[in-house]
Order: sequence, then C-alpha cells, then structure tokens
Amino acid sequence: MNDMPDPVASPLYRQIYERVRSSIAEGRLRPGDRLPSARGYAQELGVARGTVDLAYAILAGEGYVETNGRAGTRVASGIMPIMHLRKTVPPPTEHARSATQQHGLMPLAPGVPAFDLFPRKLWAQLVRRHARALSRADLTYPDPQGSQALREAIAAYLAVSRGVTCVADEIMITGGFQASLALVARALLPPGGAAWVEDPGYTRIRRAMIELGARPIYVPVDEEGLDVAAGIVRAPDARLAVVAPAHQFPMGVTLSLPRRLQLLDWAERAQAWILEDDFDGEFRYQGRPQPALKSLDRSNRVFYTGTFSKTLFPGLRLGYLVVPRSEIERFQAVMRYLDGGRPSLEQAVTAEFLGEGHFARHIKKMRGAYRSRRAAMAAALTDRFGPAARIEQGAGGLHLMLRVKASLGMLEYVPWRNGPALGAVPMHVLTDRADMQDGLLVGFANVPERQSAAMADQLFGVVEAALKASR
Ligand SMILES: Cc1ncc(COP(=O)(O)O)c(C=O)c1O
Repeated sequence: MNDMPDPVASPLYRQIYERVRSSIAEGRLRPGDRLPSARGYAQELGVARGTVDLAYAILAGEGYVETNGRAGTRVASGIMPIMHLRKTVPPPTEHARSATQQHGLMPLAPGVPAFDLFPRKLWAQLVRRHARALSRADLTYPDPQGSQALREAIAAYLAVSRGVTCVADEIMITGGFQASLALVARALLPPGGAAWVEDPGYTRIRRAMIELGARPIYVPVDEEGLDVAAGIVRAPDARLAVVAPAHQFPMGVTLSLPRRLQLLDWAERAQAWILEDDFDGEFRYQGRPQPALKSLDRSNRVFYTGTFSKTLFPGLRLGYLVVPRSEIERFQAVMRYLDGGRPSLEQAVTAEFLGEGHFARHIKKMRGAYRSRRAAMAAALTDRFGPAARIEQGAGGLHLMLRVKASLGMLEYVPWRNGPALGAVPMHVLTDRADMQDGLLVGFANVPERQSAAMADQLFGVVEAALKASR
C-alpha cells in the first residue's frame, strides 16, 4: 500500500481508494485490521490529508471499512477477501503500461502527433531497405553515444531550424525526452539534490525526479513562462532547472527574453544546469519560431534536448541531447555503462529520413495540418460551449486549453479506459494550483476537421455532467 500515487493516473483519492480496496480483496488487509491514520498516511504519501479522508469515506460508504471515532478506521468485520475483484483491479504495473499506450490512442489525448498522417509507406520502404542491407558491422554493439550519421543529421537540422550550433560529437542519441532527463539527472544531481520543475508542468518530470532520488521544487509558470525569481526564492541552490522555453507544457506560453536572460544568469552564478525541453518547438502556428534558449547560452550551462516523439512518432523512442563540451566525457561514460545506446536499424532509418529531406517536408506538412485541425477544433468548442468556456490557444503545440470557469476537480480521469473525456486531461492531473482547476487539455492532432463538431458535442456532455454532479 506504500508506493507514491502516480499523478498522471487517476485522481489521487481514487488511487488510494483502489489501493486499499485491492489490499482487502487480495487478503493482504484482513477483517479488523487497522488502516493507517489519515494524517499519517497522507504524510507518508506526500498528499493532502483531505485526499486520504475522501478515499476512506468512499471505502466506508461501500462497506469495506468501518470508522469508529478514536478507534480509527478498520477493515469491516464481515468482509471476506474477494479475489475476483482482482479482475477489475489489475496490478499497478499493468495499469502503467497499458495506460500510457491506450491514452495515446484516444482522440483527444494531448501531446501525441497525428497518427493518420504519418507517411507509413515511405517509412516502411526505408526500414525494408536498411534491414536488407544490414552488414556485419550493423549487428555488433552500436555506438552508445548514437550513430554518427544520425548525430550529423541532427546537428545540421538544429543549426537551421532551432538556432542551435553544435557538432555531432556534442550530441547524444537518447530514448526521447524521458531518457535525456534521466541521463542528465543521473550524471549531475547529487542524492536529494534540488531541481526546479515547472508548475503546472509535464508530470513525468516531477515523478522522474522522485524516482531518481532528487527533490523536485515546483516553480510557478505565468504568462512569461517560468517565474525565475520565484525559483530563486524557493531553492536558490538548486542544481538543475527543467524548463520548456519554446512552448511550455501545458500553458503554451513562451519564455520571455528577460526571463531567459535571468535564468541563464542564475545558472551561471549558482553554477547550476538548465535542461531545455524543446519537445514540440517545431509546431508553432503564429509568429516566427522562437530560437532555442541554448542559442543564448554563452557560459555553457544549458543542455538542450529534443525528441522525435512529436515530429515522427512516440513509438520510435528516439531523441537527442546536446551536451556542453565540459560534460561530454562524463556523459559518454554514463551512456556506455548505464545505457548502451539505441538500436542501429531505427537510427539508420531516422538518419536517412532526415538526410534526404523527408523530415523537413513532413514537418512543413504537419504544421499546416495541425493549424487547420486546431482551428476546426477551436471553432467547434466555441460553438458548443458558447460563453460557458474560454479557449486558450498558445502559439503552437498539439493541444488547446478549455477553461470552463468552474473547478473540474471531480472530473474522472481514467487513462487506461477509453473514458468519457476521450483522452482530454483535466488540469488537476497536472497541478494542485487552485487557479488552474477549471482547465481541460484537449488534443486536436488526431481529430480530422470533419469530426471536430462531434467531438466537441461529446466533450460538452461530459463536462456538463461532471459539473452537475459536483454541485
Ligand atoms: C513537456 C513534454 N516534454 C517531452 C515530451 C516527450 O517525451 P518523450 O520524448 O519521452 O516521448 C512530452 C510528451 O508528451 C511533453 O509533454
């Protein structure tokens, strides 16, 4: 019963409820056993006491537990271990795996590219060609830092498209942003070391910090992006700041120039590091693409990371990390001894996709498609919700934010089931900030224009029902 709740899964009270319920169902908690006090359990899990109270209240309402004032909360005396419940409560690891996959396939999931528009035929041709041409050298261990061809192609792409000048030797091929983050944290953070993370932000970042034994420090995001001054007040001695300057997730704001300079100045003075998460900077629909923060980095404090999860597809699990010169040897060692590198075939195919110009063409085409799908979805939502909601569209990205002017805190979010919200993510999953609880992230990449109205209708029904139920 003791793991941390997962902030990307269902609401925390629901996770606690399910955990206790399955402990009872599987006989690990027996009739008469005392549950931890709500206060103690809340402290242990690092959640608000009210969250545990709510879970216990539901369990009591359903007859699993009995609450007897000062005697505390105990498993109800008449209850038998009911093993069949296991069928409806799969073990957490199964949840985690299928949740991620299934959520990505839901029509309104934010943060995934359009799967229907990926040039699968062309990709398959390249895969076939490279598979047929596999040489003995391709069968041996890959370079742990990544294939030279792919690193060169990425260096060329970054110079032209993102204003990042680097050479292939400074690039590590990773398994996407998540792997870049783990690599940076492992190499740079001492145990318990503090790291600034954006609030609201990508929940995997906070969770990864905890998994890696680091200490995430939540730094608020406002209309200029990360509030650097607040970060300095909260943890001036942090070793790392993880930030998405081009297009913050989920707020969609761009880090302003004064904040960029302030962040770089702090990093230089504190001898701290910045991890720039440029996860979808390619997809900007208004104004000019913002150059990367890395392009302003004179004192070499910025690690820049990008991913092919949005520009190609997340199943590829490929990304890249640009490492400051002073740290390259250390990072090579971490890759060699703790990672081993990425598969040769996928790297070769991706290198050719970039080198032959398919990548640039694909991004251009997708930018147009996303602009159009986004406009259709925004119009459909405006039509359907009318004055009941406000739609916030940042300058880019793969989702919009619907603000419904009332808390959606009770909107059930069950990523491993194709739940009623069709994959849209309520903000309570991403942050506890009171001023954000009225938000819902609505992905549009996988909704062709002709389906936007139907999707908006369905979403309206779900939101209306949730708001009614919470009144
Ligand atoms: C803020 C942010 N960073 C990075 C990523 C990409 O992560 P990965 O490369 O591990 O797929 C995502 C994906 O949703 C994201 O939202």
